[in-house]
Parts: sequence; structure tokens; C-alpha cells
Amino acid sequence: MIHPILLCGGSGTRLWPLSRKSFPKQFSRLMGEESLFQASARRLSGEGFAAPVILTAEPFRFIVTEQLAQIEQAPQAILIEPEGRNTAPAICAAALWLAGQDPEALMLVAPSDHVIPDAEGFRAAIHAAAPRAAAGDLVTFGIAPDRPETGYGYLELAAGADARAEAPQPLARFVEKPERARAEEMLAAGNFLWNAGIFLMSARAAAEAFRTHAPDIVAAVSEALAGAERDLGFTRLAAEPWSRAPDISVDYAIMEKADNLAVKRYAGPWSDVGGWDAVWQQSGPDAQGNVCSEHATAIDCSDTLLRSETDQVEVVGIGLEGIVAIATSDAVLVAKKDEAQRVKAAVSALKAKG
Ligand code: GDD
Ligand code: MG
Repeated sequence: MIHPILLCGGSGTRLWPLSRKSFPKQFSRLMGEESLFQASARRLSGEGFAAPVILTAEPFRFIVTEQLAQIEQAPQAILIEPEGRNTAPAICAAALWLAGQDPEALMLVAPSDHVIPDAEGFRAAIHAAAPRAAAGDLVTFGIAPDRPETGYGYLELAAGADARAEAPQPLARFVEKPERARAEEMLAAGNFLWNAGIFLMSARAAAEAFRTHAPDIVAAVSEALAGAERDLGFTRLAAEPWSRAPDISVDYAIMEKADNLAVKRYAGPWSDVGGWDAVWQQSGPDAQGNVCSEHATAIDCSDTLLRSETDQVEVVGIGLEGIVAIATSDAVLVAKKDEAQRVKAAVSALKAKG
């Protein structure tokens, strides 16, 4: 059995004004009928998969239960983080929790905000990686890079490894979020894959990796688990020990340090929907390159994304080229599509204004 561990505690700001602190993008119906969270839960279900373990924050707990009920899933557990301490403490909590039930259980750690349209192909890649994970390696999933992206981690294949092989291949190195020049070198070198941020490992191997490389996280998280309160199906981690867990991502805390890494290449389409340009791309632009939501109309536009998130607002674009315009009930974003990544900076500026 593979236990899906779904991370959905983050509050991405690159899709502002749709993604908000109170309702982050993974719960929005960004594309299609289901939220990205629902699509992730559904993708990791069926034969060979246990019910998911959810890691989230207090304000999202009922969104999680409601959205799972809508797709007729019941969680195995919902662990509530008293505050966001990034992915390393969250994954450590899942690993220790699962190791307490069954140390040999395999855990598939996945973000809940990725778009992976070929669910069946993706499940096949996971199953192909399972023997390696059961043998004690930390298996990550790799994507062939097509640009020197600095927002991803890079995986260097060990000498002699064959990225196209069916079985996971050994890794020489994991490089989290490089500088631009380094990213260009790695793209040119040809023996690197992007880290998809999806990991398959046994609960025992994961717990051991944390004990070796991040004992301070293990100390705080095991206390937070020991003091956890259970109510209404939620497992609320104890706040005081949790607050002592270092705020660090699993990529820096574990993956850059571990020497038992392997990578399974995933060749199907994958996107982490990191910004509005990615939403435009994933939504399937029409012949003029436009994407319009309900209540949005493009007249003589090209290469443009127009969205209204409310039936109270009509969005109309005339003669636009390469623009994104997103209207919600209380905010409007208008940006050059190429520069839409900069909304992250805008959100910080708005926060500073109060
Ligand atoms: N439960 C919980 N708690 N989830 C969290 C927390 C937290 O404190 N912080 C982040 N997450 C969730 C996010 O919501 C997201 O689903 C996932 O964990 C990954 O966090 P991101 O903040 O989106 O990471 P990233 O995109 O910058 O980088 C990671 O993903 C890339 C691929 O998308 C890294 O693993 C990179 O190496 C990788 O290339
Ligand atoms: Mg991400």
C-alpha cells in the first residue's frame, strides 16, 4: 500500500488575487471542475493506494474535509500544523506518524497544487518506483527541464545513470533553487532533471533521514506528536514544541544532504502552476492565444488571459496583447503576462501598506 501524504498548508502568493492567505490556490477551481487539491487526492487513489494523510493549517481544516467529501474520499488522518514551519517539519510529522503505524509503509509525499493531467501514467511511475523505495532509498520524481528555471530544485544523475530507464536511477546530487548562471549550466550539461517536489520513501527511511540530517526537527516534531490533541477526526499537533521546529523546506533539510537518493523520471506533462503565465498555458489558449473565463470577453486580443472570479464583475479586454487581467470581488490585477511572476512582490508591498 502506498500512503499519499498531501501537503496543503502553503499559501502561495504568485496567483494573487485569486490565491489568498484565507483561501490558497490549491483549494480554488483554477482549471476545470475540481480544485487542484481534489485533483491531487483523486490522482493518488485507487488500487494500491491507502486513504490520504493530509497536512494542513487550522484555517483550512473544514475546506479539506468538505472538498474530500465532494469527491467521496475519507482521509486516513488530518494532521494540523499549529503554524506554517515549511515542508520539512510537516513531512517529518507524517513520517513519524506513519512509522508509528507501520514503519515499512511507503509514503508518497505530494504537493496539492500541481497539474498532472495523465493520472494513470503518473500512478504507473509511482508503482515503478515502489521497489526502490521499499529497499530504503528516498525516491524523487524528475522532469526533463526545458528552461533554466530558478524556482525549482535540480537533480544530477549519477555517472552512468540512464534517465529513461524504467527503474529509478541513482543521483549524484540535489541542488535546490540555483542561481540563474548555475541553472543555465545544468540545463546545458544535459544530465540534470527538475525535482518535481514529489517523494516516495518508506516511513522508516524518511524518519531515519530526518534523524541523521535534522535531529532538531525530529526532537520538536516528536514532542508535538506526543502532545497532539484529537478531536472530530483532526490531529492537532502541540503548538509549543512545534514552534521550536526549524522553518526549513525538506529540500534543504534532507534532500541536499542525503546520499540514498534515487530519481524516477516522469515523462508526462507536469506543471506546478507557479504563476498566471502557467495558468494561461495549462488552460489551453485558443487560436489567438487567449484564455477567457466565464464573465470575461476578449475583443481583438491575442496572447491574453482574462478572468473574472465573480459573477458580479464582467471583464472585457480590447486590443490587448500579452496581458493578464484577473478580477475578484475586492481586487483587480492587470499585468504583462511575461511579468506576472512579479505579483509576489506586489503582495509583499500590499502587506507592508497594511
Ligand atoms: N502542510 C504544509 N505546511 N504544506 C506546505 C508548507 C507548510 O508549512 N509550506 C509549503 N507547503 C506545501 C505547498 O502548499 C506546496 O504544495 C508544497 O508544500 C511545496 O511548497 P512550495 O512552497 O510550493 O515549494 P516550491 O514550489 O517553492 O519548491 C518545491 O517544489 C518544486 C516543484 O514545484 C521544491 O521541492 C523544489 O525542489 C521543486 O522543484
Ligand atoms: Mg510550488
